[in-house]
Amino acid sequence: MAAEYSGHRCRHFLLFLALATILPASRAQLSPTFYGSSCPAALLTIRTAVRAAVALDARTGGSLLRLHFHDCFVQGCDASVLLDDTGNFTGEKGAGPNAGSLRGFGVIDTIKALLEVLCPRTVSCADILAVAARDSVVALGGPSWTVQLGRRDSTTASLSTANTDLPSPASSLSTLLAAFARKGLSSTDMVALSGAHTVGQAQCQNFRARIYNETNIDPSFAASRRAGCPATGGGGALAPLDASTPNAFDNAYYGGLVAQRGLMHSDQQLFSGGSTDGQVRSYAASPAQFRSDFAAAMVRMGGIGVLTGSSGQVRRNCRRMN
Ligand code: HEM
Ligand SMILES: *[C@@H]1O[C@H](CO)[C@@H](O)[C@H](O)[C@H]1NC(C)=O
Ligand SMILES: *[C@@H]1O[C@H](CO)[C@@H](O)[C@H](O)[C@H]1NC(C)=O
Repeated sequence: MAAEYSGHRCRHFLLFLALATILPASRAQLSPTFYGSSCPAALLTIRTAVRAAVALDARTGGSLLRLHFHDCFVQGCDASVLLDDTGNFTGEKGAGPNAGSLRGFGVIDTIKALLEVLCPRTVSCADILAVAARDSVVALGGPSWTVQLGRRDSTTASLSTANTDLPSPASSLSTLLAAFARKGLSSTDMVALSGAHTVGQAQCQNFRARIYNETNIDPSFAASRRAGCPATGGGGALAPLDASTPNAFDNAYYGGLVAQRGLMHSDQQLFSGGSTDGQVRSYAASPAQFRSDFAAAMVRMGGIGVLTGSSGQVRRNCRRMN
């Protein structure tokens, strides 16, 4: 009886030991010091290249930030967005929200090439995207945050998920909230992350319906945007997402929304008599609150669906699997 009881205890103890060793490995474990010994120059290399690219063309900062967003919302932050189409593989670059619109791939290629010389097969493309997004925001005057590292790269991509899960500029507030909720992000995160539209540009086809047909828009702003965006035909003409400080990562985007100067329908939805009006007013009034909420939300977005441990791979070329 006593022997049998202690046998149970022994088995329970062994089970506990087994679980204690297995569980941490199976949980997504990222760490800010992941490359501390395997590639100590990784962070400086990425920062230097991003700074140079943004100095050459400020828009590239926004483009790199958007790449990380479009990566994380499709299969998680796994660099699936970077895979090129080939004869027998379809990636995400041809999806509606990506085609003719995503930029910055060449900067990522340059960074990856440098890192393959410094520390071959070590730094993942997914981590390069996460760090480049942070360094872009910093280069444009925005907040900084500690980037969690150790993501691995996918061997798959999903054109269909890119088409369904990336939010459209025609979305209503409830659709935007649902799209972010599906990724585990709150309403607060959605409004904070949308502040990324304080930099970068959009094509006429993505704001045409708003400037010609909507009524919750400042009339002189609408008129000036119509001048650069014909009602029909060529939809590629660009306008800044934040008219007042187009290349500064500040809180002016929110002041623009309060003034009904949101460029896209989806932008103005954040301040249109709904549940997020208060948060938009807060960010318009407090740059510090926006900066800290944006940084925290970026860390959460960067943790969506990551591959860790021995899942996936570290691609040698971000455009194709090994
Ligand atoms: C809330 C839902 C969102 C919608 C509907 C949306 C939609 C869009 C659209 C349609 C464009 C213009 C693309 C073009 O005309 O080529 C754009 C640009 C941009 N988006 Fe978003 N976006 C959203 C959220 C985000 C988030 C969360 C981020 C990053 C954290 C982001 C970062 C950017 C940046 C920086 C640009 C400018 C890119 C450039 O100039 O190359 N967006 N977005
Ligand atoms: C696609 O084709 C390439 C080159 O012919 C080959 O190496 C690769 O294994 C193929 N990939 C898939 C997913 O079938
Ligand atoms: C504005 O709305 C009208 C009526 O619905 C529509 O015919 C027209 O195509 C819209 N214009 C733009 C630029 O979206």
